[in-house]
Amino acid sequence: MEFPPEELETARLVLRRPNIEDAEAAFQSYASDPKITRYLTWAAHTSPAQTREHFQQAIDAWDLRMGHRMWLIERRADGALLGTIGCTVHFHRAEIGFALGSQFWGEGYMPEAMKRVCEAAFEDDRIARVQALCDEENARSSRVMQKVGLRYEGRLRQYGHHPNRSDTPRDCAMYAIVRGD
Ligand SMILES: CC(C)(COP(=O)(O)OP(=O)(O)OC[C@H]1O[C@@H](n2cnc3c(N)ncnc32)[C@H](O)[C@@H]1OP(=O)(O)O)[C@@H](O)C(=O)NCCC(=O)NCCS
Repeated sequence: MEFPPEELETARLVLRRPNIEDAEAAFQSYASDPKITRYLTWAAHTSPAQTREHFQQAIDAWDLRMGHRMWLIERRADGALLGTIGCTVHFHRAEIGFALGSQFWGEGYMPEAMKRVCEAAFEDDRIARVQALCDEENARSSRVMQKVGLRYEGRLRQYGHHPNRSDTPRDCAMYAIVRGD
């Protein structure tokens, strides 16, 4: 399978590429939630138009099959839009980023989604390594990576740009899983 595919499924979730019509629901669910952006590079959206603009870039990336490919995470039971996970592929390396609306935290949804993305990555022979970075203070995110089986590889000093946390560059933790781990 060529990674990343446009859709993936898990027991409880569907991961799928976004449509422009999803922007309003995404704005309500997670994109306008300031609790999720503390350690992210972007600020919570203040209007659905901002989310639509962001979605158009994501749709373009899927159409061109390059750049950051973003999936929406939908709950199969009721179709609720929980959040987002995405990846950027660079030669043999895939890097993952993710966020979930805060009302959906603590149910193991992100580990479930990320595990499926890692499995799909290694179904493509080109991919040898899946990595993810987080602010060194972002304990919830670190825990997700550990639960999915990524290993802590070290601290990247002054690596992150997390303007909702601080104006100055942030130390980040690098986690990765490689083929054969
Ligand atoms: C990180 C995030 C995706 C987690 O998703 P989730 O589906 O809630 O993950 P889980 O249900 O596995 O819960 C997170 C884990 O962190 C633990 N945790 C929660 N608060 C914690 C804290 N303050 N310190 C340490 N661990 C904590 C939970 O106990 C749980 O681990 P456990 O199952 O071993 O008990 C979600 O919190 C989020 O969207 N955060 C904001 C966006 C973000 O920071 N993204 C990552 C950018 S790198």
